[in-house]
Amino acid sequence: MKPKLAWNNLKRVVLPYWRRPSIGWVWLLVLLAMLLLISYINIRISYSERAVFNALETKDADQFWHNLMLYAGVLVCSVPVVGSFGWVKSQLEMAWRRWLTTNILERYLKNRNFVKITTDQVDNPDERIQQDVMYFCTEALTVAMALLDSALAFFAFVTILYLISPILLLVAIAYSIVGTVATLLFGKRLVGMHYEQQKLEAEFRYNLVYLRDNKEAIGLYNGAEREGSGLKHRLSKLLRNLSSIVSWQRNLTLFKVSYDYSLLIVPSLVSAPLYLSGQIELGMMVQAAGAFGRVIGALSVVIAQFQTFARLSAIISRLSDFIGVLETIENKGDDKGPGEIVTRIAPALVANGLTLNTPDGARTLVRDLHFETKPGGRMIVAGPSGVGKSSLVRAFAGLWTAGTGEIQRPDLSDMMVLPQETYMPLGTLRDQITYPRSAEEAGIDDARILSVLNIVSLGELVKNVGGLDSIRTWSDVMSPGERQRVAFARMLLANPKLVLLDEATSSLDDATEAKMYDLVTATGATIVSVAHHQALIAYHDTVLELMPGGGWRFVPASEYSKE
Ligand SMILES: Nc1ncnc2c1ncn2[C@@H]1O[C@H](COP(=O)(O)OP(=O)(O)OP(=O)(O)O)[C@@H](O)[C@H]1O
Ligand SMILES: [Mg+2]
Repeated sequence: MKPKLAWNNLKRVVLPYWRRPSIGWVWLLVLLAMLLLISYINIRISYSERAVFNALETKDADQFWHNLMLYAGVLVCSVPVVGSFGWVKSQLEMAWRRWLTTNILERYLKNRNFVKITTDQVDNPDERIQQDVMYFCTEALTVAMALLDSALAFFAFVTILYLISPILLLVAIAYSIVGTVATLLFGKRLVGMHYEQQKLEAEFRYNLVYLRDNKEAIGLYNGAEREGSGLKHRLSKLLRNLSSIVSWQRNLTLFKVSYDYSLLIVPSLVSAPLYLSGQIELGMMVQAAGAFGRVIGALSVVIAQFQTFARLSAIISRLSDFIGVLETIENKGDDKGPGEIVTRIAPALVANGLTLNTPDGARTLVRDLHFETKPGGRMIVAGPSGVGKSSLVRAFAGLWTAGTGEIQRPDLSDMMVLPQETYMPLGTLRDQITYPRSAEEAGIDDARILSVLNIVSLGELVKNVGGLDSIRTWSDVMSPGERQRVAFARMLLANPKLVLLDEATSSLDDATEAKMYDLVTATGATIVSVAHHQALIAYHDTVLELMPGGGWRFVPASEYSKE
């Protein structure tokens, strides 16, 4: 996607926060009031300066001291306002960031949207949610305040300057137009480069996180060198782009510095002849130079803020792309189009003419499947590796929806999927057992957790790690078989109506596997298993065998074992 500061991007990213009343509005009003006050103070300062210099010129000591005191008074009064401006701005930034992050996060998590979004649609969503939002709130306000401040300064000083010297005003306007046009031409490419930079930085970090997450596997493969060269390659790519940004910024800065320096000379060039020929006083000349600087400063806001502006446009594009994808998913809602499997709530699991495709639509895994389980029914799905067994489980769980036909199943809150790899969230041992709920929310006390852990033969674990409150990286410290038993503990606590087990006992010894299946059968839930282990067929009443190409057949479990 190409970065551009289109109206659509602004509408998606900037406006939503301001559509409703919030604390942000209060901070914004305070900020605006402060800006007005600061502009007023600046005008006062300009007049005080003029009076001080006029007194000096006429060597009027009384006037001088009087005006100097006034000048000092204005400066002292302005300290609290000027000094706390940044603090108020930060308050607004934080309020805005909290709202925007929460808003995006909720939409990202809702209806399992995070599973639906592909990397092709949105690269590095984590970076966008954290870093892009953070920079956006800070820099959007910086740019907005700079623009407002410039508008105020312009109106305040344009009159002063005009009254002193209309020529000087014309020079200021012409001067800033030339500067602005030159900066825009110079800096145009920076926006695209910043967009690319954000992406490269995010990818580099993601690769580092990936290394950390897979450290053991990489260590076992002795793959450090390979990982290192991949990382270094990304770093070089990132630095290459950064180096072009830096070069462009250098050119821009060279231009900006010459522009700023000439500002020191130009007003004197115009106003000194007026002073020397006696048309204006010294104070006026000093004030004219000051006013000239302020008018130019106001008109040159684009030049001064260009780098922030370029980075901000890139960030707004990234956020807008992300929010746009969320909007597309949200607008699709629950009304499934042609190509989408329909879901209905039912007590057990039913497939009605179910055809399942891979999400990219490239392959049909199962064609026109029909079956009906009764509550408490137990079905095992068999078939060669890669045929689509896990995919069928994903479809039953509502994660994959590409296809046609209908699935009837209990509500997601009444279902539990036990995959081969047990996910371990960040948190305490207690959190691992009650996931996806918290112990509090589910009303489960420690005694119940301990008893369930004993049932799945993990009683020792609690003692070994130092209790239910201990926090570890559980995916590292627990063996795959232990984690699979944690999954059974979760199932016992949640007591779901439908349990989908996808190789859920693959890491367990035969005796423990049998024990786990005895447990899940005893709950009376409807069970759909995927497993290669022959011994498990006995725990089911039907076998659904999938065949390559989308075919399938049903065999009673008692007969399947004999085949
Ligand atoms: N996100 C995806 N997009 C497209 N195709 C996918 C995706 N995930 C998996 N597939 C493909 O779908 C097919 C079925 O995969 P699935 O995981 O369902 O196989 P399986 O029957 O469970 O195999 P195994 O017994 O090895 O676990 C595979 O060919 C796989 O490459
Ligand atoms: Mg599988």
